[in-house]
Amino acid sequence: MYLTRKQEHMLDGEEGLAVRKSMELLVALGNVFGAEKLVPVESAHISGVSYKNLGDAGTEWLEEQAAMGAKCRIRATLNPAGMDMEKWREMNVPEEFAIGQKRVIKAFIDMGVEPTCTCTPYLIGHVPRRGTQVAWAESNAVCFVNSVLGARTNRESGPTTLASAVTGVAAYYGYRLNENRKPAKIIDIRTPLESRLDYSALGYVTGKLMKSSVPYFRNMGKPDMESMKTLGAACATSGGIALWHGEGVTPEAEWASQYLEGLETITVERKELEEAKAGLMSDPDNPTYCIGCPHCSIKELEETANLVKGKNLKGRLWVFTSRKVYDDAEKGGLIKIIEDAGGKVYRDTCMVVAPLHEMGWQGVGTNSMKGGHYSVAHGFPTKLATVDKLVEEASK
Ligand code: F3S
Repeated sequence: MYLTRKQEHMLDGEEGLAVRKSMELLVALGNVFGAEKLVPVESAHISGVSYKNLGDAGTEWLEEQAAMGAKCRIRATLNPAGMDMEKWREMNVPEEFAIGQKRVIKAFIDMGVEPTCTCTPYLIGHVPRRGTQVAWAESNAVCFVNSVLGARTNRESGPTTLASAVTGVAAYYGYRLNENRKPAKIIDIRTPLESRLDYSALGYVTGKLMKSSVPYFRNMGKPDMESMKTLGAACATSGGIALWHGEGVTPEAEWASQYLEGLETITVERKELEEAKAGLMSDPDNPTYCIGCPHCSIKELEETANLVKGKNLKGRLWVFTSRKVYDDAEKGGLIKIIEDAGGKVYRDTCMVVAPLHEMGWQGVGTNSMKGGHYSVAHGFPTKLATVDKLVEEASK
């Protein structure tokens, strides 16, 4: 792989051990994928934050990186942790878990990472421009930044995003190159998409059909930003999709349309969407109803507040969002409305990365196919429904 003189010095350890280790990782990755060079990246979004996934071994590795002097040289934001960093007791998170989680966040802060703890950094001002190279992890965030914003990243991991944050570079391969951003198949949607859950189900069906190749959607209507974030999350969950094009919707679709000739077209009907939802459904007895996978936007919090306003919820309704959106919602009185009705709004975490079994959960209701997929994988009886139906059930 070609390295600039500066990059060679970084690899030789002239900028310290942490930079050397990070360069070694990125060069090794680039060699595996046949990258010809490293390219500068403008920002990083780092996953692998929940103590549930990291455990002590992962936490110690992060602390070692910080002790070695690892420091971010570009903007780096952080994915959700395993708990609301303030309201974890109210969530019933065990103390031992909280101690581990705080160590993780401290290590990231020591390295100069912004402790945003959200999977929707693009909703809180971390919005790369079209065409820029970034190093992002977290499947929904990757799909959003590639597809909706038109910036460029591969599906990075926690360690590689941290390495890019520390060095400011990433290996040049995969979705960073035009040739790998061409569509592989056309997905022709033959049913109106009537809710965000429908968009989520479309993503889930598409991920299964396309695995990790690039779909070109036709007739996808006019999805709002929230529909596009849930679609991408689902695409990346049932398959490994990192980029999708939507005709008349996404910024690279027009460019992508020059490669459509000769591609296979797969039609998606209502039946497939309903089957995908049904495939994750059982009948939870005592579910916690969850909204916010991916983390809620302010619009979703407004909608939820309008739905619960004046109600006395009997079931548990939990809403997940980022700290910044929470603060905005609090100023607008939305958190109070939801909490007055008996709901809860938590920051920094979500229904997948929190230690739900230890918190005593028995079942899950969600409007997200990604959330539903992981809920089933973690052994919870699961229900999928639109937000208004979830609120209706929680009110009974
Ligand atoms: Fe985000 Fe957690 Fe869902 S990280 S996409 S809310 S599983």
